[in-house]
Formats: sequence, structure tokens, C-alpha cells
Amino acid sequence: MTRRSGPSRPGGPGGPGRPRGPRGGKAGSTGKGGKGTKGASGGALRARPATERVRTAAGRSNASTRWLARQLNDPYVAEARRLGYRSRAAFKLAQLDDRFALLRPGLAVVDLGAAPGGWTQIAVARIGADRRRGRVVAIDRLAIDPIAGAEVVHLDFLDPTAPERLTALLGRPADLVLSDLSPDTTGHAATDHLRILALAEAAFDFACGVLAPGGGFVCKLFQGGATPDLLAGVRRAFAKVRHAKPPASRAESAETYLVATGFRGRPADEDPPW
Ligand SMILES: C[S@@+](CC[C@H](N)C(=O)[O-])C[C@H]1O[C@@H](n2cnc3c(N)ncnc32)[C@H](O)[C@@H]1O
Repeated sequence: MTRRSGPSRPGGPGGPGRPRGPRGGKAGSTGKGGKGTKGASGGALRARPATERVRTAAGRSNASTRWLARQLNDPYVAEARRLGYRSRAAFKLAQLDDRFALLRPGLAVVDLGAAPGGWTQIAVARIGADRRRGRVVAIDRLAIDPIAGAEVVHLDFLDPTAPERLTALLGRPADLVLSDLSPDTTGHAATDHLRILALAEAAFDFACGVLAPGGGFVCKLFQGGATPDLLAGVRRAFAKVRHAKPPASRAESAETYLVATGFRGRPADEDPPW
């Protein structure tokens, strides 16, 4: 199912409105790495001392109690709520963009594993898709509430029709493929590791299939989540490959991001060597 939502409505569904920066200034104009005019903040926030204590409660596991306490004391969670972002993850993309200048006005962007939509909100604001400059297509196997300025597709990105459907919605090959995909975890380390690897490899294949020459690819990896083969393939396919852990990514999380730019393009025979 595909939904195109209407114009941006400040503070309404899908629209973070007029975001202000993390320290109360105009969005992106304050804090290190802010970009002033890009319409969304990406400055690093300092962790607050834990002020909210959460008591264990009947029926709540220790892990749930720890998760709740972390949420209540996380400055990015509070800031995401204040700015109308659907997830704290929005800050990770904003910070990656502040560092690598990925989201330029007018680009065609695919967001893989987009639910609930924080990255999509940042991409829409920074490329100007809410002002009809550029396009963002977001896909997830979970339903995503409409986001003003984006096309949202409720589909597994591994579905064989996905690349064609998404490029049809973009109207041209993509300039940037974003992947914040995370698999459902089982708790069984070896199984989870394989799932993470498979997703990263599939996201890379997908990117190679839909990107225009010169395009970029941002992919979440987990520690041990990229084999030397995958990294070698990405290095062959892109002119520049960097790794980053944005400040909003929790220190205790094994996630990191691969940022590849300068896609070399698919060979004419459609049979890529990577
Ligand atoms: C960490 S969340 C993404 C958060 C998002 N970037 C944001 O800012 O709100 C990872 C997402 O990947 C999605 N996902 C995992 N495997 C998928 C697949 N095969 N196809 C589509 N989405 C998938 C999950 O449903 C989940 O919503």
C-alpha cells in the first residue's frame, strides 16, 4: 500500500512543525554541527543525570524497568518529543548529515526500514520534499503513519517488486539510499548475527540496484555485522567509504553506520562484480 500525504502541517501528523534547536535556538543554528537553514536539529545533547527513578512493578521485568528508566532520562527522547520527531533515531541521521553533508535540496531519497519515521522526517525537511524539492520514499514492513512530503510504502523491502516500485515512486534513480534496518532479534546470538548480516547485505544489493551514479548509501551495521566480503564490495562500488557512530547512538549499543558516497554505477551488463 502506498500513501502520499498532504502538505506539511506544523505540529500535525508527520510534520515536526518548526523545530527549534536543542538549546532553544533555531533548529540547527545552535550546537556543534548545526546547519542553520536545514530545518532540523542535529546537535549532540549532553546526557542528564538520571532524575526519574522507576520502581519495579508487579508484572514488569527488570529489563523493562531498565528500558523505561533509560527512556525517561534520555535527553534525545525528550527532545524528539518536543520537536515532534517520531523517534530519537531522527537525531542520528541529522548528526550523520551534519558531518557528511548527505541530504541536499532536491535529492531523491529511499529510506529502508523507516518506521516509525524519524529519519524520513529529517530527510523530508532537509531536502525540501515538503516544499516539492526532491522526493523521499520510505518503506517498512510495519505500517507508517503518513508523513507530509514523503511516500510511505508498507512492504518488506526484500519483496522482489520493491526496487521497481520505489524507483517508480521516486520517478528517477535514487541519489541516496538510507538503511536503518534492524531485524527482529531472537536472543540467540548466532541467529541474530546472521539476520543482521543478511539485512546489511540485502540493503547493499538494493542500493546498487536503485542508485544513480554518484549516489550515496548509509547503512546501519552492528558490531560483527559486516563481513570483509561485504565491506570489500562496498569499497569497490563506492568511491569513498567511512564509518561513524553519531552521538545520539547509545554508547552501549553495538550499532555503527557505514557512509558510502560516490556510487560508481552499475556495469552495462547489469551483472555487478561486487
Ligand atoms: C530501528 S527501526 C528504524 C527507525 C527509523 N529509522 C526511525 O527513524 O524512526 C528498524 C526498522 O526496520 C524494519 N525492518 C526490518 N526488516 C525489514 C524488512 N525486511 N523490510 C522492511 N522493513 C524492515 C523494522 O520493521 C523497523 O521498523
